[in-house]
Formats: sequence, C-alpha cells, structure tokens
Amino acid sequence: MNVREQLLALNEELRRLKGEGKRSVSVTEESIAELRAAIAGGVAVDSHAADTVPAFPLSVVSGVREEEAPVPVRVAVAPKAIVSTMPAPTPIKLPEGDKLTRWTALRDLVLNDPVCRAKIFPGKKVVFGVGSIDAAVMFVGEAPGGDEEDQGEPFVGRAGQLLNRMIKAMGLDRSQVYIGNILNWRPDMPRNEDGSQTGNRPPSAEEMNYCLPFIRAQIAIIQPKVLVALGKTAVDGLLGADRFKSMGAARGTWHAYADTPLRATYHPSYLLRQEGLTSAAAKKIKRDAWEDILSVMERAALPISEKQRNYFL
Ligand code: URA
Repeated sequence: MNVREQLLALNEELRRLKGEGKRSVSVTEESIAELRAAIAGGVAVDSHAADTVPAFPLSVVSGVREEEAPVPVRVAVAPKAIVSTMPAPTPIKLPEGDKLTRWTALRDLVLNDPVCRAKIFPGKKVVFGVGSIDAAVMFVGEAPGGDEEDQGEPFVGRAGQLLNRMIKAMGLDRSQVYIGNILNWRPDMPRNEDGSQTGNRPPSAEEMNYCLPFIRAQIAIIQPKVLVALGKTAVDGLLGADRFKSMGAARGTWHAYADTPLRATYHPSYLLRQEGLTSAAAKKIKRDAWEDILSVMERAALPISEKQRNYFL
C-alpha cells in the first residue's frame, strides 16, 4: 500500500470506530508524530505496530484535538523511518520603522514565502494574521481551514463565527483584537475525487516549527497585553510541546509567553461541538471557557458587567 492508501484505510477505520461510538483511540506519541509526518510529507511507510499508551481523541481526524473522555482502543498505525521534508524556517529581516511598517513587511514576507506558497493548492491562499496592530488582546489559533484558505483570513468559518461571538461577549469588535494562527496554510489531507480536501488535521511538529517564527514576529510587533491560545496546538506552539498533556492541564491559570501573560482556552471548534449539548460536562466546558475569557478581560483591564460575569452559569 502506498502512503495515500494507508492513510485512507486508517481514516476509514477511525471513522468506523467513531460510527460505533468510540471517542478515542490509543497510539504512542511516536506513532502520532510519524503519522503526522507521513501526512505532511507523503514519505513511504512500511511496517505496522499496534501500541496502547496515551489516548488520543478521534476528533483528530476532523480537526482540532481537545480533551474528550478517552476510550482506549487498539489500532495499528505505525511506520518507522519517517524523514522530515520541511526546510529550516525562513530568517525574518524586517525594516526599521513603526509598527505598521514592520507588520506590513512581515505580512508581505509570509504571503510571498516560497515554502508557504508551495503548501497551498491552486486558487487557495496563504493566511496571515488580521486585526488591530494596537490590540490589547491577541488570539492565536491552530491553522486555516477550508474557509480560511479560500478567503485568506483566519477564523472566518464556523469556528470564526463563534470566536466573533466570544469577542462580542467581551464587549469588543473583531477589528479591535488581533487574530493569528500557528500555521499559515491549511494542513493537507488526502483529496476526494473532485479534488476537494477530505478534512482538516492538526499541523505536524515540522510544519509548526517552520511557521512559528511568523507568529512570534507578529506577537513581537503587536505587543498585546494578553495572549489567548485557542486550543492545544496554540499552547504547544507558544509554550512548548512538552509542557502540558492536555488542554485541561493548560487552561484555568496564567502562563507567560516571553513577557506577555498568556491564557489558554478551548478552541472554538471544540466549543462548537458542545453547542446544543445540555449535559453537565458540556455546560462545564462552556463555563470554563468563559471563565478563561473573563480572566483575559480582567488582565486586559476591560470593563466587566454583572451580566457578563454570569454568562453560562
Ligand atoms: N481554526 C483555526 O485554528 N484557525 C483558523 O483560522 C480557523 C479555524
């Protein structure tokens, strides 16, 4: 089987398990890294191994990975000897000047970066951050999805609409904050017969490593009062991949990215999956996310009304 066939078979097996109600499978960290690299690089894989160690949720096949009740299942994923195909990150040289000059130069550099451009499919766009360069609050997400690569703007799809509602609930407008992503292109997946992409996946470590200087440079220019990491990929990218095992471990407290206070909260895609759910667990996730946002508002010295304090109670 070639890589594409193996990935399609794996995808199919995961979907079958999901259809049976399984919410997570167990694979080793090594296998996950190899799988991501295979997806990113299309490098041939040859052996199989079935491992059971940490649980990882099935939602990984359709996008952002967050905490869900793990149900360990054995699956064979595996391959050995995956080689990274990403080049070293592009050195960033920006002109002297004010924020707008440096931000504009950085945006041009990223949008024209040959590696970023090689990662996008015809008609699709490299995605750079948007918003106010004087923003007090900067949100960092994972990677563009289908809507974002079509429009060339972060968070414009369903997750973006929820993020906009969260920003509005803070008493702000989208244009008053800054929104960026860890990755500047939509991570590729196998394609349907009509050429469309089968779904979304989290970026590989190599992809993140390539793009991290771009989001770091945006943070250095914007100098927000507070950073909000949306989801585990943003946490891993900004704070280090080995720092937290899960979103539950990362959220609910303050961290520091260089000198900037950072709060981690659930990714809007994960929150979307709680919409309409009335279980105590779903309610807690929504309230926890809102408490993260209230903490961000306090830190950014935004006014908070009694009504705002009580959302999701
Ligand atoms: N999810 C992200 O993490 N970023 C986007 O821009 C869109 C969806």
